[in-house]
Amino acid sequence: MARKKIIAGNWKMNMTPSQAVKLVEELAPLVKNDDVDVVYCVPAIDIVPVVEAVKGSNVQVGAENMYFEESGAYTGEISAAMLVDAGVKYVIIGHSERRDYFKEDDALLNKKVKKAIEAGLVPILCCGESLEQREMGVTMDWIRFQIKSDLVGVSADQVKDIVIAYEPIWAIGTGKTATTEQAEEVCKGIRECIAEMYDQATADAVRIQYGGSVNAGNAAELFAQPNIDGGLVGGASLKADFGKIVCY
Ligand code: PGA
Repeated sequence: MARKKIIAGNWKMNMTPSQAVKLVEELAPLVKNDDVDVVYCVPAIDIVPVVEAVKGSNVQVGAENMYFEESGAYTGEISAAMLVDAGVKYVIIGHSERRDYFKEDDALLNKKVKKAIEAGLVPILCCGESLEQREMGVTMDWIRFQIKSDLVGVSADQVKDIVIAYEPIWAIGTGKTATTEQAEEVCKGIRECIAEMYDQATADAVRIQYGGSVNAGNAAELFAQPNIDGGLVGGASLKADFGKIVCY
């Protein structure tokens, strides 16, 4: 069965609640495409108003982060159960900005992935190499390490429903997109890694996005690759351009 494409916006730390609702309203007529899953991953404080604003549309809401504990003394954190209760369906886990600025390591991300799945959320698990790693020729070794450690203890049945986002760090927010060949090569490598860890049917089911300077001009070519099942879009998800990406 063909995998349904999934195109997600990652708003990062942008949009106040009132700006968020305005953006959702502006994008509403532009992001209608029933052939793809459309997701807005928004700052925690925007979740409630955005869930309300997308009601009755084809858009679903994701969070940008969560904590793995059930509840308790974790000041400032948000649990999976809170996200589910607010109407969230997806959660980005392990974005390179969280790995880098907030020192999230793979052991922590593994706990988050497992908790998200247990709560009924779909993790969008991010991986990606630095420019230094690419130049050293260790890209695929690094990505395989991330995928393997982040998925410890996750069953084949659970993995087939998650989303993996390949985002080369050097392509994020830089305007420097990976070439279509580079993006496809790594996404294919991720699928092979899943096939080795689980089996071919699981690998064929999992959706793998490319992220890193996706825009209205390059989306169609990227999404036409056999192993690229959509995109995780930062900067361009905050503008009308996102409509062009969704309707690529
Ligand atoms: P960008 O960000 O599209 O602005 O490069 C992508 C991401 O970080 O998810």
